[in-house]
Amino acid sequence: MISAVVLAAGEGKRMKSEKIKVIHKALGKEIIQWVLDAAKGAGVQDICVVVGNKEEQVREVLGETVSYARQAEQKGTGHAVQMAEDFLKAHKGTVMLLCGDVPLVTASSLQGMLEKHQKEGNACTVMTAVVENPKGYGRIARDEEGVFAEIVEHRDCTPAQLEIRECNAGMYCVETEELLEALGNLTCDNNQKEYYLTDITKLLRQAGKPVGTYILENEKEMMGVNDRIQLAMVTEELRDRYVKKQMAEGVTFLKPDSCFVSPDAVIGQDTIIYPNCIIEGNTVIGKDCVIGPDSRFCDAVIGDGTEIQKSVILESTIGNGVKIGPFAYIRPGNEIGDKVKIGDFVELKKAKVASGTKIPHLTYLGDATIGEDCNFACGVVTANYDGSNKFQTKIGDRCFVGCNVNLVAPVTIEDDAYIAAGSTITETVPEKAMAIARARQVNKEGWVTVKGKYKRKK
Ligand code: UD1
Ligand code: CA
Repeated sequence: MISAVVLAAGEGKRMKSEKIKVIHKALGKEIIQWVLDAAKGAGVQDICVVVGNKEEQVREVLGETVSYARQAEQKGTGHAVQMAEDFLKAHKGTVMLLCGDVPLVTASSLQGMLEKHQKEGNACTVMTAVVENPKGYGRIARDEEGVFAEIVEHRDCTPAQLEIRECNAGMYCVETEELLEALGNLTCDNNQKEYYLTDITKLLRQAGKPVGTYILENEKEMMGVNDRIQLAMVTEELRDRYVKKQMAEGVTFLKPDSCFVSPDAVIGQDTIIYPNCIIEGNTVIGKDCVIGPDSRFCDAVIGDGTEIQKSVILESTIGNGVKIGPFAYIRPGNEIGDKVKIGDFVELKKAKVASGTKIPHLTYLGDATIGEDCNFACGVVTANYDGSNKFQTKIGDRCFVGCNVNLVAPVTIEDDAYIAAGSTITETVPEKAMAIARARQVNKEGWVTVKGKYKRKK
């Protein structure tokens, strides 16, 4: 079994935040969750997260999916791994050591490192990358034959070593038994007076154990998040990665760099996404849809051939061939059938709308069940809330609801009924009936002149 220890005891002061660094989100997912998902994708089964101050924040996000070790005081990366001793003792075989603040690392790179580690039979394999600007990173020192020698921290480098551009990415595969032994021999005899995890490579080599390296193709994968600028940089990288993934699967983006797509979203072939769309969570969009501009979806399920303009759709299911927007607000809990039209300034909440129904403008339907082929004129409102309780509105098939109608719930409108404009409906409207519920018009002849109330100019 492959296990992992993820270091996340640092608070991340440079974030200037009440929240600890690793629970900030990049593209909708906590930084540390990206790391855990990559590890799981590479076959890691059991994970221990090393937490420090404000550990409850990490526990709240990750819950029982991982085990925890606590590092009360930050005495270095080696000391942090020492805190996971109990976990390591219970997990024989290979352990990955990872950092909780490196969200760009991919499952395939971690898998590549693991495969190389196993193939070469190493005691430890270090992930490295040749980077443009090595400042701050530990350098990979190699002997004349190019064989890995040791990792030298930036502050401990000689001027010659500072020129090395191959750096330690801070991710490793290690055999647990060998790791435990090396951890026991760490000292803090260095510039920062910390226990460096990197020293295990030197200790293992001194003990005659094989230590190898795995070189990352894309140096961006080792990028850590320390401040909001780096958070924006990794978010942009992830955004680009997942928009490109959708394009590779047959989705057209008119302006790819303006759109955000969740890693968990599924979008069908030949769907066209206009600029400035945000597709979050587990949203599923069918094929041949036209989406946007300026639309946002979160956990929405949208059928095939649906067209949506400038609208927000949250936690709702939308059928095939539906037309929505512009400016529709589909709040959580709606089920919309096929070929429905939901037009401008329509708000829906917990509404079930059967196929073929048209709700073209300025309407609010909440806690409502609506049948097939109904037609709503402009400005229909369900009065679903009395200040303390919510009530249901039921509308049958083929009903016509006129302009500016209030439906005071609980209320039922049976099949084929017709409601006159301006009505306030409080009682059941029977099948095929026409309901009209408004005061009759009264015209008071000559009222204006008699009263002399308004002095009209001219
Ligand atoms: C570390 C490596 C360096 C490598 C770099 C890659 C060491 C000594 N150096 O440097 O070679 O190039 O990562 O990013 O390991 N942490 C704890 N407890 C601690 C200290 C750190 O949990 O006491 C956690 C941090 O929260 C962070 C991770 O370990 O997630 C790495 O720590 P950081 O201080 O960023 O490591 P560097 O000094 O940058
Ligand atoms: Ca440090």
